[in-house]
Amino acid sequence: MNYDFHYSISRRGLLAAVAGAAVSASLRPARASAVDQRQIKVAPGQAPLNGVDGQSTAVWTYNGIVPGPALRLRQGEPVRITIENGLDEDTTVHWHGIRLPNAMDGVPGLTQSPIKPETSFIYEFTPPDAGTFWYHPHADSLVQLGRGLAGPLIVEEAEPVAVDRDLLWLLQDWRLAADGQIAGGFGSAMDASMSGRVGNLITINGTAPGDQNVRAGERVRLRLANASLARMMALRFEGHRPVVVAVDGQPCDPHEPEDGRLVLAPAMRIDIVLDLQGDPGSSHAVIDDFYDGLAYTLTNLAYDKAAPLRAHPLDAPVGLPRNPLPAPDLANAVHQEIMLQGGMMGGGKLKGVGGMMGMGMPGMNGGAAWAINGMSMTGDGHAGMAPQFTLERSATCHLTIRNETAWWHPMHIHGFSMLVLSRNGAAVPHRQWQDTVLLAPKDTIECAFVADNPGDWMLHCHVADHQMAGLMTVLRVK
Ligand code: C2O
Ligand code: CU
Ligand code: CU
Repeated sequence: MNYDFHYSISRRGLLAAVAGAAVSASLRPARASAVDQRQIKVAPGQAPLNGVDGQSTAVWTYNGIVPGPALRLRQGEPVRITIENGLDEDTTVHWHGIRLPNAMDGVPGLTQSPIKPETSFIYEFTPPDAGTFWYHPHADSLVQLGRGLAGPLIVEEAEPVAVDRDLLWLLQDWRLAADGQIAGGFGSAMDASMSGRVGNLITINGTAPGDQNVRAGERVRLRLANASLARMMALRFEGHRPVVVAVDGQPCDPHEPEDGRLVLAPAMRIDIVLDLQGDPGSSHAVIDDFYDGLAYTLTNLAYDKAAPLRAHPLDAPVGLPRNPLPAPDLANAVHQEIMLQGGMMGGGKLKGVGGMMGMGMPGMNGGAAWAINGMSMTGDGHAGMAPQFTLERSATCHLTIRNETAWWHPMHIHGFSMLVLSRNGAAVPHRQWQDTVLLAPKDTIECAFVADNPGDWMLHCHVADHQMAGLMTVLRVK
């Protein structure tokens, strides 16, 4: 795949000049019309997280709001996004799940210099895939994400699927203190070596959710995105049968999820098509029951009293057109294996620590809680560590990920989407491509991708505490 097929030669030159350095906004090269231009300022602000009138929480924002503005881009059309840093610390923006040139990937110290306070950086890319993505910082990730920096990124299909409404729920989990402000203590050793910083307030699109108003008979496309630091979710729509049409932005064979549960780990997205077949005036709970014994009602689907929009569910296909992902050549694949190691012994789904106390791996590098194949890259990551492995350009990588720990890990790869082949030896149906794959304790996952995009790419757990504490590595494509 040619990632800059929309750019002329001179455009590439321009891109090279901009890449890798934070440039001041005044240096922004002038260019005539065509390119879609966006502007986002990162700055402290206030948000009505708990939905109580007159109360607000100090947060960090994109353009003054939490979550940040929904970026709606067009598949195959270039965009230029200027990020202005109004924080007192360095930041970057990572376009999670978008296959883009390495220099636009937003990893400080690896793909670019950090964006210093009071400076700007211009990201330019052409999204090759339509779907549901998101954006977030990759600097001081635990704190910046935990203070609210996250926004939805939707790349529109040329021909969208026929629905009455296209909705998005960006889910965030906050740890608030008794005064309603964000609790300190980011990166505690306990969070780092156990479940991560799971919070106590869950918001949908920035506010503690009240009811969601729906109309009988309508068909909605609902884009679910879990932008939490650490909270896994498993959503059930009582009385409804959601059909999964895409995972992590990539269309799959439409199917109803096992047990009706939509398992959504941090950074994952699931697009569902929901036929609202409840009775006018009825109410149906949406329940998250991921953690044993801690199920709660996230929100309710509240049906309008009006007569159904139509008598029968819409008779139209729900499958989305495939994205132009390169097909893995499994017969000639290069095999690589990574092992996830460390954490507190015992593990489990927030059930506390069973068994022995102490770190799983003695002698872990520099006191990090986690490691990948014995190496711990911590903090925001950096170029200083040798890549875990190097792939020839265009090779198919058949990657095995083994979770040797007692904890859950949503493992995320930058720059690629991976076809998930098997979980614990059993084939994964529905042709699912994912950029973030959730591993239960002791799970083994096999997946494959074509290394068509050169550069150094991150591979890490998206539980932010785990990422910062060593569950992160780099792979290189030559
Ligand atoms: Cu969504 Cu490296 O992250
Ligand atoms: Cu990413
Ligand atoms: Cu993890």
